[in-house]
Amino acid sequence: MTAIRTGLGWDNHRVADGRPLILGGITIPCEFGLDGHSDADILLHALTDALLGALALGDIGMHFPDSDPRWKGASSDRFLAHAAMLVRERGWSIANVDTTVILQRPKLKDFRQPIRENIARILGLELDQVSVKFKTAEKVGPVGEGKSAEAQAIATVVK
Ligand code: C5P
Ligand code: MG
Repeated sequence: MTAIRTGLGWDNHRVADGRPLILGGITIPCEFGLDGHSDADILLHALTDALLGALALGDIGMHFPDSDPRWKGASSDRFLAHAAMLVRERGWSIANVDTTVILQRPKLKDFRQPIRENIARILGLELDQVSVKFKTAEKVGPVGEGKSAEAQAIATVVK
């Protein structure tokens, strides 16, 4: 019998001038970016928490504390790859991941394909197992006012 588990992830970072905007490991050309101890890749952080959540393995801060100088400026690929390794080590495989980035601007849809390809590469998945969606916040609230950005992710794992 196939066992199935799902995990949920969410992340939120402040918008900041003079920082890169990196989403799903892809640098988006933009005059602002996201503040954070690592590369502030909210999409990969939410996805990492979703994978950890699926197997009740804690959260990203437990595995990669932001007080640890080793993770300052770290590329979030490493967090996601580590979470995927923990999942596979336990005999599970990732069935699919689905994500949403909520950012008022810039438009991100032209970056959907490279972001999906990069996540598929990190997780060792086919492209059709990786979904990436974008939403504005309709100019309402901190995300809508351009003060922050959010990402949500869900991951399903099977054994
Ligand atoms: O938020 P809203 O429903 O108005 O977004 C409409 C579409 O615009 C989304 O489905 C998405 O394809 C695109 N979008 C985008 N980049 C954003 C926000 C939305 O490409 N930052
Ligand atoms: Mg809408």
